[in-house]
Amino acid sequence: MSEVITANDKEYEAQEMAQAPGADQPMEDRTNNRTLRPTTSKKFAEFMKTGWDNQEPEIEPLESSKFIPARLEALGKRFPGERIVIPAGTPKVRNNDDDYAFRPNTEFSYYTGLGQDYEAGAVLVLNPVDPESPEAKAGKTHTPELFVAPRADNSTEAYYVDAHYGEYWVGPRAGLKELNAMTGIATHDIAQLPDALGKDVGAEAGAVRMRVVRLADPEMTAEVENVREANGFPDPATNEKADDELQEFASTARMVKDSYEVGEIRKAVAATKDGFDRILTRLPEAVGKPRSERMLEGEFNAVSREEGNTVGYDTIIASGEHAPILHWMRNTGVVGHGEMLLIDAGIEVDSLYTADITRTFPVDGKFTPLQKKIYQAVLDSQQAGFEAAKPGATYSDIHHACMRVIAQKLHDWGILKVDVEESLSPQGQQHRRWLACGVAHHLGLDVHDCAQARYESYQGAKITPGMVFTIEPGLYFAKNDLLIPPEMRGIGVRIEDDVLMTENGPEWISKDIPKQIDDVEKWMAQRAAARK
Ligand code: GLY
Ligand code: MN
Ligand code: MN
Repeated sequence: MSEVITANDKEYEAQEMAQAPGADQPMEDRTNNRTLRPTTSKKFAEFMKTGWDNQEPEIEPLESSKFIPARLEALGKRFPGERIVIPAGTPKVRNNDDDYAFRPNTEFSYYTGLGQDYEAGAVLVLNPVDPESPEAKAGKTHTPELFVAPRADNSTEAYYVDAHYGEYWVGPRAGLKELNAMTGIATHDIAQLPDALGKDVGAEAGAVRMRVVRLADPEMTAEVENVREANGFPDPATNEKADDELQEFASTARMVKDSYEVGEIRKAVAATKDGFDRILTRLPEAVGKPRSERMLEGEFNAVSREEGNTVGYDTIIASGEHAPILHWMRNTGVVGHGEMLLIDAGIEVDSLYTADITRTFPVDGKFTPLQKKIYQAVLDSQQAGFEAAKPGATYSDIHHACMRVIAQKLHDWGILKVDVEESLSPQGQQHRRWLACGVAHHLGLDVHDCAQARYESYQGAKITPGMVFTIEPGLYFAKNDLLIPPEMRGIGVRIEDDVLMTENGPEWISKDIPKQIDDVEKWMAQRAAARK
């Protein structure tokens, strides 16, 4: 195509080459060498600022914004007089200048109410109020402030130069005005953050101490660490311990969901049901085809993008011998006739709350007697888990109830050779060969929510109304397990439901997703018919 290059093109190129950074150009700057950018001409820069219609829609407060003050108040009461720093984090690099989709840090999302991809680089700061102020006397401990990059809109050069924030590249962003309207939290330019972080920090009486959510953004953690080091807190281990207390509190605070959170999880479960429907509709066509696990994954993931933000975790589509592999996420296998198909999938809605559901299907639509026997055992185990889950019981109670049924069945089938009680004892546990994972976990913004809570607050704590969790026993018979009768090898069954604890016992919030044997068969037949 060189014949179409004109003298003007040559002049442009010559000018670019004259400015080329050469061999000393740092490696991290080189990702842009593939582009001749239109930034050299003043005329272009002026031209780009003109001729735009900048009318904008009114921004409504997020539904979550009504729930944020109570969450912040609880956090503030735990750490009075301290500055709390909660970064949203920054995008993770996939390669060069290509990032993974941004998901804000979970604590940031919880304390701002922001979901989707709001807002890379933002930092929530809870500033302690002056203890002598009228606000403090009225019970207020902190003022929340959100530091955020201003919009790189078409009045700025960054509009078309900055591929991270420039709205020519990434579309309209939420800046100071927008995030304030969405969250109800006061916003400031991120450029003011360094001064705001360091203000009044010190170890002396009346000065401000600081804690940061460390896992969110290593650069912000380092910045906070520098401020602390320079202001009387030189011991990194002590600082880290203080930060860990913040992380633990924030994780534990999410154990009891407010009504907004419960509503969002219900939405996630409903969308997930639609995803399973879509899988079952495609299933008859997929059976026997190469990479048919991926075909089904694609169906679910499509619904996750249509109805939600994305999937809450990588979708597991595990047919036949893949089903006993607990985290089979490669999904490259064939869904074969006669097999059982284990699907563990959850849709995360825009607020970032997720569902976590597993169903196991007979690929051909009808359970064989052997498949029924194994499936019903897992269902019975799950039922025992439901019955153990009542206000005042502990997570461990659910675990023990599920495990007792599993151990008994394995013993009845002659697989577990030791006595059931011996196996259930701490010195035994032989049945765990076929169910090594946990059978319940908190669910919310993260699929394994509240993961930084203490063991005692998790396993040992009483289940209280407002907690949302899974119950998910299974049986996993690996293809090469010689202790299993040959006809059972290569079968894996998990049944996983999402539960809200209420004053009256567990509410089965995923009850619209069939799981009884007859209901599963009917559901599969209905969906297969829906395709025709
Ligand atoms: N999908 C992850 C889990 O069930 O815990
Ligand atoms: Mn789970
Ligand atoms: Mn799961």
